[in-house]
Amino acid sequence: MFPTRLRLYNKAWVANRLELNVRYFERLAEGQSPQALWIGCCDSRAPAEEITGARPGELFVHRNIANIVRADDPSFAGVLFYALEVLKVPHVIVCGHSNCGGVRGALDNHPEPCLSQWLGPIRSLLTPGELTDPDKDAVCLELVKKNVRRAVNVLSEMAPVQARWKQASPLAIHGWVYHLDSGYLEALEERRSASESTAAATH
Ligand code: CO
Repeated sequence: MFPTRLRLYNKAWVANRLELNVRYFERLAEGQSPQALWIGCCDSRAPAEEITGARPGELFVHRNIANIVRADDPSFAGVLFYALEVLKVPHVIVCGHSNCGGVRGALDNHPEPCLSQWLGPIRSLLTPGELTDPDKDAVCLELVKKNVRRAVNVLSEMAPVQARWKQASPLAIHGWVYHLDSGYLEALEERRSASESTAAATH
């Protein structure tokens, strides 16, 4: 059974960690100081730590269907506040992925009300031409990218991000796409506060 396999793996993993460092779990239990907030899709094929090699303690992770950033999502608002104000992460990474079922659901106007309501912000990014374009796969990939750019824009306006930029506390927002068919990450854009960007340009 699959759950049995998961627990057996876990036992072997603990033994392996302890063999490498007998204090491994003691150290982890002392606290976290992650380097980035990762915002990704729930898709089982896009596991943040697996595709980036990030170790326990390095990524603070939030996942939802189609990695949508909504200012009216209380779960996400709490995650963003905690990551930026308490953990003081220096990076936020929004990572969409190709062949995203959520983005496809937005394109096809999924009939389930809870999904169509959730996916609304993605659907609103579609142009009339894209809605009638027969090449659904191409439109879908373009929509994945638009959704990431939209997320970076929405994040830039949210209070915890604005507060960090006003404090001149280094914070960069990265927009990436994970290509399921090749395994590679593609960087779409990176945004910092105006003063940080100027400093980076002159140094
Ligand atoms: Co997805």
